[in-house]
Amino acid sequence: MERFRVVGGTRLAGEVTVPGAKNSVLKLMAAALLAEGTTTLTGVPRILDVSIMSELLRRLGCVVEGTPPELRITVPERPGTEADYDLVRRMRASICVLGPLLARCGEVRVALPGGDNIGSRGLDWHIAGLAKMGASVESSHGYLVAAAPRLAGATIWLDFPSVGATENLLMAAVLAKGRTVIDNAAREPEIVDLCVLLTEMGAEIGGVGTSTLEIEGMESLRPARHATVPDRVVAGTFAIGAVMTRGDVVVRNAVAAHLEIALDKLCTAGARVEVRPDGFRVAMTERPKAVDVVTLPYPGFPTDLQPGMIALAAVSDGAAMITENVFESRFMFIDELVRLGADIRTDGHHAVVRGRDALSGAPVRATDIRAGAGLVLAGLVAEGVTTVGEVHHIDRGYQDLIEQLRSLGADVSREPDPDPLEL
Ligand code: EPZ
Repeated sequence: MERFRVVGGTRLAGEVTVPGAKNSVLKLMAAALLAEGTTTLTGVPRILDVSIMSELLRRLGCVVEGTPPELRITVPERPGTEADYDLVRRMRASICVLGPLLARCGEVRVALPGGDNIGSRGLDWHIAGLAKMGASVESSHGYLVAAAPRLAGATIWLDFPSVGATENLLMAAVLAKGRTVIDNAAREPEIVDLCVLLTEMGAEIGGVGTSTLEIEGMESLRPARHATVPDRVVAGTFAIGAVMTRGDVVVRNAVAAHLEIALDKLCTAGARVEVRPDGFRVAMTERPKAVDVVTLPYPGFPTDLQPGMIALAAVSDGAAMITENVFESRFMFIDELVRLGADIRTDGHHAVVRGRDALSGAPVRATDIRAGAGLVLAGLVAEGVTTVGEVHHIDRGYQDLIEQLRSLGADVSREPDPDPLEL
């Protein structure tokens, strides 16, 4: 067990380069299952979740070679069809093998992921969509068991633009018989990235980037080579850090258009944002002004940057209302932020944050990956030393966070946790 040690009071300045997106690459790796042969992914981040997904694919009979940023996934003619609980419980995104395995093999058994620190995280829309495509889906002994000799195209209306349901149904539809329409589909940049890979594999997908996806099912797909979209959440984390520390950071390999609303909020807080061909620069000279945030599916404000914005509001001038609409328990980390002296009241899915002149360093624990990043940002502006425990959450999705922050001038390090929480 390790923790991060953050000494507050430094200013982030310099350049960082963002790797490919965790929330895209995991699905791209799952999509490789749709075609026999070797699919090559570039821009792969060196993070724990990629290692877990690689292990899952190996257990399905795939050969995963190379090291990030390039991975080669060789898929056999007939992959395995079972994803075990020991991996699924470590990484909920494992559920994204459901659609591709069902479409490719006609059957699949994926362990139910169970509870999560950010909310209840249902799978009902995944299941309803696959059932509409003709699959039998049932839950048995902790597993979701689905079967369909050949899925049939269907029109599916999602109750909510769920990222995971859109991805699973998309990956099922590309090998279904006939045409599938997914309405009220999610349109995150990571969904577009998946559509691009599927198209490179031979799929026909219309409406890419819109909330109506139209997919013509194919008899088979071919392997492809694909570059992962840059991680907008990592890019946004550095941008928020620059504003909080009154710094000046150039974020490279980032797509400013994927962060439009977040960068606009930072401008409202008083930052100067300059869009560049390969990223953006965020500079801040004064104390940030409080800004309200409402999380929503893309192109709304990303829930994954909500903890960072709460950390920012905790030291801003004025009061901010932060509304979380995507994950019901994503305010759980606020109690940790309060340990650093933040003044935050929550009521349901609203949090009112009254900015303090200063936070004070203390030991805190990451409750999930983005909460962990938010606490590290808070530590950067807290007086004295903050330690952030349970860093395995942060390691799931931030490549070399300590090294990158150090390169920007932060006083941060990784050390053994002398008091790890017994699991
Ligand atoms: C993805 O989660 C991301 N995870 C999340 O990133 C991200 O926060 C989220 O999308 C929203 O952008 C990965 O890509 C691996 P959803 P996902 O399906 O697909 C409810 C991070 O920190 N729902 O859009 O699980 C669900 O409970 C994370 O990197 C149902 O009720 O998100 C949630 O409240 C965490 N039934 C809401 O919809 C369903 O069948 C949105 O979930 C499906 C979802």
